[in-house]
Amino acid sequence: MSKITAIINQKGGTGKTTTALNLGYALSEEGKEVLLIDFDPQASLTAALGCNVDNKTNIQTLMALAIEEKEMMEEEKYILNIKENLDLIPCSLDLAGIEMSLVNVMSRELVLKSVVENIKKDYDYILIDCSPSLGMLTINALAACNSVIIPVTPEYLSAKGLGLLVNNINRIKKRINPGIEIDGILITMLNQRTNLSKEMVKALNESVDFIKDKYNLDIKVFKSKIPISVRTGEAILNKKSIIEYAPKNKVAKAYEDFAKEWSNW
Ligand SMILES: Nc1ncnc2c1ncn2[C@@H]1O[C@H](COP(=O)(O)OP(=O)(O)OP(=O)(O)O)[C@@H](O)[C@H]1O
Ligand SMILES: [Mg+2]
Repeated sequence: MSKITAIINQKGGTGKTTTALNLGYALSEEGKEVLLIDFDPQASLTAALGCNVDNKTNIQTLMALAIEEKEMMEEEKYILNIKENLDLIPCSLDLAGIEMSLVNVMSRELVLKSVVENIKKDYDYILIDCSPSLGMLTINALAACNSVIIPVTPEYLSAKGLGLLVNNINRIKKRINPGIEIDGILITMLNQRTNLSKEMVKALNESVDFIKDKYNLDIKVFKSKIPISVRTGEAILNKKSIIEYAPKNKVAKAYEDFAKEWSNW
């Protein structure tokens, strides 16, 4: 059975795209069949993999077909192969237009789910890179997935922000997708040498306790933590995963460890 996971945080710049890319890459290196879906109109994941998007090969075309209840033609047209075991459905800014058009669609929360239903049989893992919002695209991702990873940076520890996100996930769980699980919180861009990092781990535990009290929900914080390194950005500029670009780098190692921890969860 394929595991479909949304990588989500309504705050911008918390490492969602970097996590989708490198977690996907690490799993594909372990021999798993992985599909990445770029579901953010900023198209950062598509750009990070150096893909050019034409008019057909993208998620918005598939969403448009699903809205019109038309059959998907051939899968190869929409899915790009990146490397062995790793595929991508790219997107472009036009995905924002689809988000607008969803307003008038029946079962508008379930459009991505119907797209994914058609292709999931071919994959062990499908990772959906979400945009930094809680809009209709993110709701579609939450309706289509069976689990969620929440990347957070050291600065993003307010119980309020996490609470808002968890509350939204809970609403989707109640109303649309009872099977959804929060796999956990992944700390990214951690500078292990600063005192801030110690304070942040403390603050994060307080946030998690707060969520436990308020929403009766026990959220795990992954043991693996992703350190900060300028080479992460360099890899993206070179249109590569850090694991390929600098295999010995601490961020590359951290994502490999995280892939193991998460997939053995
Ligand atoms: N471990 C890291 N060390 C250093 N820089 C990083 C690391 N992870 C991500 N970055 C950089 O931080 C920035 C934000 O990362 P990323 O694009 O993955 O976040 P995002 O949550 O997807 O952002 P958005 O909300 O805009 O989609 C990028 O420039 C990325 O290269
Ligand atoms: Mg992103």
